[in-house]
Amino acid sequence: MNTMLGVIGGSGLYQIEGLDKAEWISVETLWGDPSDQILTGILDGIRMAFLPRHGRGHVHSPSTVPYRANIDALKRLGVTDVISVSACGSFREEMAPGDFVIVDQFIDRTTARETSFFGSGCVAHVSVAHPTCPRLGAACTEAAGAAGVTVHDGGTYLAMEGPQFSTLAESKMYREVWGADVIGMTNMPEAKLAREAELCYASVAMITDYDSWHPAHGEVDVTQIIATLMGNADKGREMVRRLPALLGPDRAPCPHGCDRALDNAVLTAPEA
Ligand code: ADE
Repeated sequence: MNTMLGVIGGSGLYQIEGLDKAEWISVETLWGDPSDQILTGILDGIRMAFLPRHGRGHVHSPSTVPYRANIDALKRLGVTDVISVSACGSFREEMAPGDFVIVDQFIDRTTARETSFFGSGCVAHVSVAHPTCPRLGAACTEAAGAAGVTVHDGGTYLAMEGPQFSTLAESKMYREVWGADVIGMTNMPEAKLAREAELCYASVAMITDYDSWHPAHGEVDVTQIIATLMGNADKGREMVRRLPALLGPDRAPCPHGCDRALDNAVLTAPEA
């Protein structure tokens, strides 16, 4: 099977030098329209698909991003591996603004989103005990390191509904009691849906702030987040640019079984 890399992220990421045959295309899905058109092309011999999670112009809030349509659109294009790039707050002193964290666990506190492709008609329960792909995560760690980023290998992402940021009490609880490392509003249900779609999924958290727990830093605000993201856009692009060479065009089956997640998950009889 051939590798096709999908990148879900912000606007800074898809102005990639060297993307051949670049073309914005519309993809229809059973789940409605994705966040935007998808930029497809070829980078170092690997097919790529870039999807602006919030749409160009940032028109979808974290709660209204069409997560199912986004994952389905990438699957329909033939994507095998999805890199999710997103801005996050940090609960750890050592995970500083500007650093990247390759997330490997989630605590899902979202409340107002469609979380599954399965329901009436076809019932399935996939495992998300290990919600990210270690092979793809390792490639992201290597690519980010080579791009000159301070990268932390592993971390627990608290997915909150938003759109408001956390209270101080919540921030302290997530950090001290629940052991979360980073916080964001977009990786859930994205990661769960990627698993249901049998896609390898890795999450790159770009740290933009210390949320509200840090006594030496004020409250988080959007201006601060945008400033850090803009300062980091080059490094994000450089990380993505290095991924095709690390992944290679010929894709061996995922050693962790991400691409076979439904093998033991479907309950509904085929003829039902
Ligand atoms: N995105 C970036 N920083 C965040 C924070 N502190 N909380 C939630 N989402 C974020």
